[in-house]
Amino acid sequence: ALGNLDLLDGWEIPRVGLGVWQTPDGPDCERAVAAALEAGYRLIDTAQDYGNELSVGRAIRASGIPREEIFVTTKFRPDGRQPFTAAQESVERLGLDYLDLYLVHWPEGGPTWAWPELEQAAKAGLTRSIGVSNFSADEMAELAKVAEIPAVLNQVYFSPFVHRRGLAEFCENAGVVLQAYSPLGTGDHLTDPVVQRIAAETGHTPAQVLIRWAYDRGVSVIPKSANPARITENFAIADVHLDTAALEALDALDTSGGTSAAMYPNGKWWS
Ligand code: A2P
Repeated sequence: ALGNLDLLDGWEIPRVGLGVWQTPDGPDCERAVAAALEAGYRLIDTAQDYGNELSVGRAIRASGIPREEIFVTTKFRPDGRQPFTAAQESVERLGLDYLDLYLVHWPEGGPTWAWPELEQAAKAGLTRSIGVSNFSADEMAELAKVAEIPAVLNQVYFSPFVHRRGLAEFCENAGVVLQAYSPLGTGDHLTDPVVQRIAAETGHTPAQVLIRWAYDRGVSVIPKSANPARITENFAIADVHLDTAALEALDALDTSGGTSAAMYPNGKWWS
């Protein structure tokens, strides 16, 4: 009921998914993915860098849910390896026939060098769609100049505190889906007094308020939790209604410089 967003290559991506960053490979990760699928999530977001593709794949295959109904994202770790071979290895670790989305995890070494091999991975059927993560608007523009197959999505840190309005506007104009990781500020935003006040006023939890804010801002959002009860809670946002005053109070928390599209002031979040 939370719906999908259109990707510009014709596929669709669910608006709410499970993130597994910092969920260690093994039983905890399998339990988290199983709980998410049970709660109704149909988007699971992993990465080569997280080291948990084995568990993610195991839980997806054990769920009995048809592969076509689940959207699986993984990300290429730009550490000198070959993106195409790395995609083959991800598909193998996941134990799936294909990826739905394969992202360049961050623009280290420049925003364009990995792209031809991501295009190759798409053409070879290893992945349906390709995209990026942690790219600024400038980096996306540079990539668009050389891309034969477009990046359909940019996944970035996005929350009321790091609103990235400029990047959001750039993506909207380009037809690129913006996807929010760490919508809870890795947990830090949950104790913010404004977030807590709105949670109390609406009768929902701080996590639900923050996830619903991202949803209402039109992005795809992938909260991380390894806890089955919290995983269920984070997906139960269909009846969270944030009125204009609440949305504006959350918008006012932005500390990312308003219209700046840059990732961080120094432009290099990983350094
Ligand atoms: P846990 O995995 O133990 O549930 P983000 O998505 O912004 O990166 O935030 C992830 C962090 O927030 C994790 O530490 C996670 O802990 C915690 N978290 C996720 N969902 C909730 C929730 N509904 N209530 C409280 N903490 C949560």
